[in-house]
Amino acid sequence: MIAGGHGKIGRRLATLLAARGDVVIGVVRNPDHVPDLSRAGAEAVVCDMEATTPDELAVHLVGADAVVFAAGAGPGSGVARKDTVDRAAAVLLADAAERAGVATYLLVSSMGVEQVAGGATPEGVDEVFVAYLRAKLAAEEDLLGRSGLGTTVLRPGRLTDDPGTGLVTLAPRTGYGAVPRDDVAAVLVALLDRPAPATVLELVSGATPVADAVAAVSPGAPG
Ligand SMILES: NC(=O)c1ccc[n+]([C@@H]2O[C@H](COP(=O)([O-])OP(=O)(O)OC[C@H]3O[C@@H](n4cnc5c(N)ncnc54)[C@H](OP(=O)(O)O)[C@@H]3O)[C@@H](O)[C@H]2O)c1
Repeated sequence: MIAGGHGKIGRRLATLLAARGDVVIGVVRNPDHVPDLSRAGAEAVVCDMEATTPDELAVHLVGADAVVFAAGAGPGSGVARKDTVDRAAAVLLADAAERAGVATYLLVSSMGVEQVAGGATPEGVDEVFVAYLRAKLAAEEDLLGRSGLGTTVLRPGRLTDDPGTGLVTLAPRTGYGAVPRDDVAAVLVALLDRPAPATVLELVSGATPVADAVAAVSPGAPG
């Protein structure tokens, strides 16, 4: 299940997974987005994640192998929705996943969240962006604190719509940079096959093929 199934990363991920035969369910809040997911080969659940319960979502998760949180309040949103989407909806998905017995959670977070660690307020940063970083960090901390859910946190750098190159740098610390959404989706697919539970990984464009980059961070996982 992909939360944010109609988002720019979510749609790319749904298309890749469906093309290789996986059963994909995308969570969308706008019914008009359902046909796009059908065209990508995915099923859709229409659900506003700011107005549902873990039990309601868990019904759709029975038998699922993994959940991916690729939702986000988006660039036009304010402080309040950073909390209700980027933090609370990610936590709600974790609650639902645990209830349904889902083993694997991939969280699309963001590079830079360490700037607000321990309640710090970085100087010269717009208050909405600070709220965004706080929401992402709080979601990470909530998920990584759960023993029943194997969470991999992916912190991409600046996202672009450039064509993917298939070449990335994926590591606990990469340094700042950009990365095409195509390559983020490819890394998510590879992490679904080889999760790196309890790991926080930054992602930018680089020189390592995606499969090799993921194998290097999840050496114990079946290849
Ligand atoms: N932009 C960057 O440079 C950057 C860098 C690092 C990480 N990220 C993160 O990467 C993630 C994915 O990025 P993206 O560009 O693919 O995002 P996106 O295109 O904005 O997609 C976000 C999706 O979340 C959905 N959503 C919002 N509120 C929802 C709700 N209440 N219930 C259900 N779905 C809801 C949106 O649906 P609607 O279409 O209905 O609004 C949209 O489809 C985000 O978490 C973002 O913060 C971004």
